[in-house]
Amino acid sequence: MADYIHGGTDLREVARLVKQALVWVAPRMLQDFTASPGMRVLDLGTGVGAMAAALVRRHPGIDLWGLDLRAAQLRQARALHPVATYVQADATRLPFPDASFDRVHASWVLEHIPDPAAVLREVRRILVPGGQCFFLEVDNATLRLVPPSPVVEEALQLLNSVQQASGGDPFIGQKLAGLLRAAGFSRVDVHPVHVHGSAGDPETLRASAEELAEIFESLDEALGPDKAPLLHAAARAARELPQVPGAEFHYRPVAALGTR
Ligand SMILES: C[S@@+](CC[C@H](N)C(=O)[O-])C[C@H]1O[C@@H](n2cnc3c(N)ncnc32)[C@H](O)[C@@H]1O
Repeated sequence: MADYIHGGTDLREVARLVKQALVWVAPRMLQDFTASPGMRVLDLGTGVGAMAAALVRRHPGIDLWGLDLRAAQLRQARALHPVATYVQADATRLPFPDASFDRVHASWVLEHIPDPAAVLREVRRILVPGGQCFFLEVDNATLRLVPPSPVVEEALQLLNSVQQASGGDPFIGQKLAGLLRAAGFSRVDVHPVHVHGSAGDPETLRASAEELAEIFESLDEALGPDKAPLLHAAARAARELPQVPGAEFHYRPVAALGTR
Protein backbone atom coordinates (compact mmCIF):
# COMPACT_ATOMS: atom_id res chain seq x y z
CA MET A 1 0.00 0.00 0.00
CA ALA A 2 1.30 3.48 -0.83
CA ASP A 3 1.86 5.78 2.14
CA TYR A 4 -0.77 8.47 2.43
CA ILE A 5 1.28 11.62 1.98
CA HIS A 6 -1.18 14.10 3.44
CA GLY A 7 -1.84 14.24 7.18
CA GLY A 8 -3.52 11.35 8.97
CA THR A 9 -6.80 11.78 10.77
CA ASP A 10 -5.83 14.69 13.00
CA LEU A 11 -8.41 17.45 13.26
CA ARG A 12 -6.56 19.68 10.81
CA GLU A 13 -6.54 17.03 8.05
CA VAL A 14 -10.16 16.07 8.67
CA ALA A 15 -11.19 19.73 8.44
CA ARG A 16 -9.13 20.13 5.25
CA LEU A 17 -10.82 17.19 3.54
CA VAL A 18 -14.30 18.33 4.53
CA LYS A 19 -13.69 21.88 3.34
CA GLN A 20 -12.04 20.61 0.14
CA ALA A 21 -15.05 18.44 -0.64
CA LEU A 22 -17.81 20.88 0.20
CA VAL A 23 -16.30 24.26 -0.70
CA TRP A 24 -13.86 23.58 -3.52
CA VAL A 25 -14.83 20.32 -5.24
CA ALA A 26 -18.59 19.81 -5.06
CA PRO A 27 -19.67 23.17 -6.54
CA ARG A 28 -17.15 23.02 -9.40
CA MET A 29 -16.37 19.44 -10.36
CA LEU A 30 -19.25 17.01 -9.82
CA GLN A 31 -21.48 18.11 -12.71
CA ASP A 32 -21.00 14.85 -14.67
CA PHE A 33 -21.87 12.59 -11.76
CA THR A 34 -25.56 11.69 -11.86
CA ALA A 35 -27.58 9.33 -9.67
CA SER A 36 -31.29 8.79 -9.01
CA PRO A 37 -33.03 8.03 -5.70
CA GLY A 38 -32.77 4.35 -4.78
CA MET A 39 -29.58 3.74 -6.75
CA ARG A 40 -26.78 1.83 -5.03
CA VAL A 41 -23.74 4.10 -5.10
CA LEU A 42 -20.22 3.31 -3.91
CA ASP A 43 -17.90 6.12 -2.77
CA LEU A 44 -14.54 4.47 -3.31
CA GLY A 45 -11.69 5.75 -1.10
CA THR A 46 -14.23 7.64 0.96
CA GLY A 47 -11.66 8.83 3.50
CA VAL A 48 -13.38 10.73 6.31
CA GLY A 49 -16.64 10.67 4.33
CA ALA A 50 -16.42 14.28 3.12
CA MET A 51 -17.35 13.52 -0.49
CA ALA A 52 -19.96 11.02 0.73
CA ALA A 53 -21.68 13.93 2.49
CA ALA A 54 -21.47 16.02 -0.70
CA LEU A 55 -22.91 13.17 -2.79
CA VAL A 56 -25.91 12.67 -0.51
CA ARG A 57 -26.53 16.40 -0.43
CA ARG A 58 -26.59 16.52 -4.24
CA HIS A 59 -28.46 13.21 -4.68
CA PRO A 60 -30.90 12.66 -1.80
CA GLY A 61 -32.34 9.15 -1.56
CA ILE A 62 -29.36 7.21 -2.94
CA ASP A 63 -28.24 4.04 -1.11
CA LEU A 64 -24.67 5.12 -0.42
CA TRP A 65 -21.75 2.89 0.57
CA GLY A 66 -18.33 4.26 1.51
CA LEU A 67 -15.19 2.13 1.26
CA ASP A 68 -11.68 2.87 2.46
CA LEU A 69 -8.54 0.94 3.27
CA ARG A 70 -7.92 2.71 6.55
CA ALA A 71 -9.89 2.06 9.76
CA ALA A 72 -8.97 5.46 11.26
CA GLN A 73 -10.48 7.31 8.29
CA LEU A 74 -13.65 5.22 8.50
CA ARG A 75 -14.04 5.92 12.23
CA GLN A 76 -14.10 9.64 11.40
CA ALA A 77 -16.50 9.05 8.51
CA ARG A 78 -18.96 7.15 10.72
CA ALA A 79 -18.80 9.85 13.40
CA LEU A 80 -18.89 12.94 11.16
CA HIS A 81 -20.96 11.85 8.16
CA PRO A 82 -23.32 8.99 9.03
CA VAL A 83 -24.82 9.11 5.54
CA ALA A 84 -23.46 5.82 4.20
CA THR A 85 -22.72 2.20 5.07
CA TYR A 86 -18.96 2.28 5.61
CA VAL A 87 -16.79 -0.73 4.76
CA GLN A 88 -13.06 -1.30 5.26
CA ALA A 89 -11.46 -2.96 2.22
CA ASP A 90 -8.82 -2.59 -0.49
CA ALA A 91 -10.07 -0.98 -3.71
CA THR A 92 -8.12 -3.59 -5.70
CA ARG A 93 -10.20 -6.40 -4.10
CA LEU A 94 -13.75 -5.15 -3.62
CA PRO A 95 -15.87 -7.25 -1.22
CA PHE A 96 -19.00 -7.01 -3.38
CA PRO A 97 -20.65 -9.39 -5.87
CA ASP A 98 -20.55 -8.80 -9.62
CA ALA A 99 -23.08 -6.24 -10.92
CA SER A 100 -24.09 -5.00 -7.47
CA PHE A 101 -23.77 -1.18 -7.85
CA ASP A 102 -25.38 1.37 -10.19
CA ARG A 103 -22.72 4.04 -9.69
CA VAL A 104 -19.18 4.30 -8.37
CA HIS A 105 -17.68 7.65 -7.39
CA ALA A 106 -14.02 8.22 -6.49
CA SER A 107 -12.34 11.59 -5.93
CA TRP A 108 -8.57 11.95 -5.43
CA VAL A 109 -8.08 8.20 -4.87
CA LEU A 110 -6.35 6.58 -7.87
CA GLU A 111 -3.49 9.07 -7.48
CA HIS A 112 -2.57 7.23 -4.25
CA ILE A 113 -2.85 3.62 -5.51
CA PRO A 114 0.14 1.90 -7.16
CA ASP A 115 -2.07 -0.35 -9.35
CA PRO A 116 -4.96 1.83 -10.62
CA ALA A 117 -5.70 -0.64 -13.44
CA ALA A 118 -6.61 -3.29 -10.85
CA VAL A 119 -9.04 -0.83 -9.21
CA LEU A 120 -10.75 -0.07 -12.53
CA ARG A 121 -11.18 -3.77 -13.34
CA GLU A 122 -12.83 -4.25 -9.94
CA VAL A 123 -15.05 -1.19 -10.42
CA ARG A 124 -16.22 -2.52 -13.78
CA ARG A 125 -16.92 -5.95 -12.26
CA ILE A 126 -19.21 -4.59 -9.53
CA LEU A 127 -21.15 -2.22 -11.82
CA VAL A 128 -24.44 -3.33 -13.37
CA PRO A 129 -24.50 -3.33 -17.20
CA GLY A 130 -25.01 0.32 -18.18
CA GLY A 131 -23.80 1.42 -14.74
CA GLN A 132 -21.37 4.32 -14.52
CA CYS A 133 -18.23 5.20 -12.62
CA PHE A 134 -16.96 8.72 -12.08
CA PHE A 135 -13.38 9.57 -11.20
CA LEU A 136 -11.97 12.96 -10.32
CA GLU A 137 -8.18 12.98 -10.37
CA VAL A 138 -5.20 15.28 -10.20
CA ASP A 139 -2.97 16.45 -13.02
CA ASN A 140 -0.36 18.49 -11.22
CA ALA A 141 1.33 19.44 -14.48
CA THR A 142 -1.54 21.89 -15.05
CA LEU A 143 -1.13 24.09 -11.96
CA ARG A 144 -0.24 27.65 -13.01
CA LEU A 145 -0.21 30.77 -10.87
CA VAL A 146 -0.08 34.31 -12.24
CA PRO A 147 2.32 35.80 -11.31
CA PRO A 148 4.43 32.64 -11.02
CA SER A 149 5.70 31.79 -7.53
CA PRO A 150 9.08 30.03 -7.40
CA VAL A 151 8.49 28.79 -3.85
CA VAL A 152 5.11 27.28 -4.81
CA GLU A 153 6.73 25.60 -7.83
CA GLU A 154 9.49 24.17 -5.64
CA ALA A 155 7.00 22.83 -3.07
CA LEU A 156 4.85 21.34 -5.84
CA GLN A 157 7.84 19.52 -7.32
CA LEU A 158 8.62 18.17 -3.87
CA LEU A 159 5.01 16.99 -3.42
CA ASN A 160 5.10 15.30 -6.84
CA SER A 161 8.36 13.49 -6.22
CA VAL A 162 7.31 12.29 -2.76
CA GLN A 163 4.02 11.02 -4.12
CA GLN A 164 5.78 9.16 -6.95
CA ALA A 165 8.30 7.67 -4.50
CA SER A 166 5.43 6.31 -2.41
CA GLY A 167 3.85 4.57 -5.43
CA GLY A 168 1.31 7.26 -6.34
CA ASP A 169 0.93 9.34 -9.49
CA PRO A 170 0.42 13.14 -9.38
CA PHE A 171 -0.25 13.18 -13.16
CA ILE A 172 -2.77 10.31 -13.28
CA GLY A 173 -5.49 12.53 -14.73
CA GLN A 174 -3.70 12.40 -18.09
CA LYS A 175 -3.93 8.59 -18.08
CA LEU A 176 -7.57 8.09 -17.08
CA ALA A 177 -8.96 7.68 -20.60
CA GLY A 178 -6.47 4.93 -21.47
CA LEU A 179 -6.92 3.20 -18.12
CA LEU A 180 -10.73 3.15 -18.44
CA ARG A 181 -10.58 1.81 -22.01
CA ALA A 182 -8.07 -0.87 -21.00
CA ALA A 183 -10.40 -1.94 -18.17
CA GLY A 184 -13.12 -2.60 -20.77
CA PHE A 185 -15.59 0.26 -20.27
CA SER A 186 -17.83 0.53 -23.35
CA ARG A 187 -18.07 4.32 -23.22
CA VAL A 188 -15.44 6.66 -21.83
CA ASP A 189 -15.87 10.45 -21.46
CA VAL A 190 -12.91 12.32 -20.04
CA HIS A 191 -12.42 16.04 -19.76
CA PRO A 192 -10.34 18.48 -17.74
CA VAL A 193 -12.22 20.72 -15.33
CA HIS A 194 -10.67 24.17 -15.64
CA VAL A 195 -10.53 25.79 -12.23
CA HIS A 196 -9.81 29.43 -13.04
CA GLY A 197 -9.66 32.00 -10.26
CA SER A 198 -9.10 35.66 -11.13
CA ALA A 199 -10.45 39.14 -10.39
CA GLY A 200 -13.46 38.04 -12.46
CA ASP A 201 -14.13 35.14 -10.06
CA PRO A 202 -12.57 36.19 -6.74
CA GLU A 203 -14.28 33.40 -4.76
CA THR A 204 -12.66 30.70 -6.93
CA LEU A 205 -9.34 32.55 -6.63
CA ARG A 206 -9.59 32.72 -2.85
CA ALA A 207 -10.88 29.16 -2.33
CA SER A 208 -8.30 27.67 -4.71
CA ALA A 209 -5.38 29.58 -3.17
CA GLU A 210 -6.52 28.47 0.29
CA GLU A 211 -6.90 24.86 -0.90
CA LEU A 212 -3.34 24.89 -2.27
CA ALA A 213 -1.99 26.40 0.98
CA GLU A 214 -3.73 23.71 3.04
CA ILE A 215 -2.37 20.94 0.80
CA PHE A 216 1.19 22.17 1.40
CA GLU A 217 0.54 22.40 5.14
CA SER A 218 -0.89 18.86 5.17
CA LEU A 219 2.48 17.50 3.99
CA ASP A 220 4.60 18.78 6.84
CA GLU A 221 4.21 15.66 9.04
CA ALA A 222 4.90 13.21 6.22
CA LEU A 223 7.92 15.14 4.93
CA GLY A 224 9.52 15.95 8.27
CA PRO A 225 10.97 19.09 9.88
CA ASP A 226 13.60 19.69 7.15
CA LYS A 227 10.92 20.45 4.58
CA ALA A 228 8.55 22.36 6.88
CA PRO A 229 10.06 25.83 6.15
CA LEU A 230 9.63 25.35 2.38
CA LEU A 231 6.08 24.04 2.78
CA HIS A 232 5.05 26.88 5.08
CA ALA A 233 6.63 29.50 2.81
CA ALA A 234 4.74 28.00 -0.15
CA ALA A 235 1.50 28.01 1.87
CA ARG A 236 2.05 31.70 2.71
CA ALA A 237 2.75 32.56 -0.93
CA ALA A 238 -0.42 30.75 -2.02
CA ARG A 239 -2.53 32.58 0.60
CA GLU A 240 -1.13 35.94 -0.49
CA LEU A 241 -1.96 35.35 -4.16
CA PRO A 242 -5.52 36.81 -4.06
CA GLN A 243 -4.11 40.17 -2.84
CA VAL A 244 -1.69 40.46 -5.77
CA PRO A 245 -3.05 42.75 -8.55
CA GLY A 246 -3.81 40.72 -11.69
CA ALA A 247 -3.47 37.40 -9.87
CA GLU A 248 -4.83 34.22 -11.50
CA PHE A 249 -5.05 30.58 -10.45
CA HIS A 250 -5.30 27.85 -13.08
CA TYR A 251 -5.64 24.13 -12.41
CA ARG A 252 -7.17 21.34 -14.48
CA PRO A 253 -8.08 18.20 -12.57
CA VAL A 254 -9.61 15.53 -14.79
CA ALA A 255 -13.18 14.22 -14.56
CA ALA A 256 -13.73 10.81 -16.14
CA LEU A 257 -16.95 8.92 -16.70
CA GLY A 258 -16.89 5.25 -17.65
CA THR A 259 -20.02 3.32 -18.65
CA ARG A 260 -20.05 -0.45 -18.31
C1 LIG B 1 -7.09 12.03 -0.69
S1 LIG B 1 -8.09 10.88 0.18
C2 LIG B 1 -9.64 11.25 -0.61
C3 LIG B 1 -10.81 10.99 0.28
C4 LIG B 1 -12.16 11.39 -0.30
N1 LIG B 1 -12.42 10.74 -1.58
C5 LIG B 1 -12.28 12.90 -0.44
O1 LIG B 1 -12.25 13.41 -1.55
O2 LIG B 1 -12.38 13.56 0.61
C6 LIG B 1 -7.66 9.29 -0.51
C7 LIG B 1 -8.27 8.11 0.25
O3 LIG B 1 -7.99 6.89 -0.48
C8 LIG B 1 -7.80 5.86 0.47
N2 LIG B 1 -7.06 4.75 -0.16
C9 LIG B 1 -5.77 4.73 -0.56
N3 LIG B 1 -5.47 3.52 -1.10
C10 LIG B 1 -6.60 2.77 -1.02
C11 LIG B 1 -6.93 1.43 -1.40
N4 LIG B 1 -6.04 0.62 -1.98
N5 LIG B 1 -8.18 1.00 -1.18
C12 LIG B 1 -9.12 1.81 -0.61
N6 LIG B 1 -8.87 3.06 -0.22
C13 LIG B 1 -7.62 3.55 -0.42
C14 LIG B 1 -6.99 6.54 1.57
O4 LIG B 1 -7.07 5.80 2.78
C15 LIG B 1 -7.68 7.91 1.65
O5 LIG B 1 -8.72 7.91 2.60
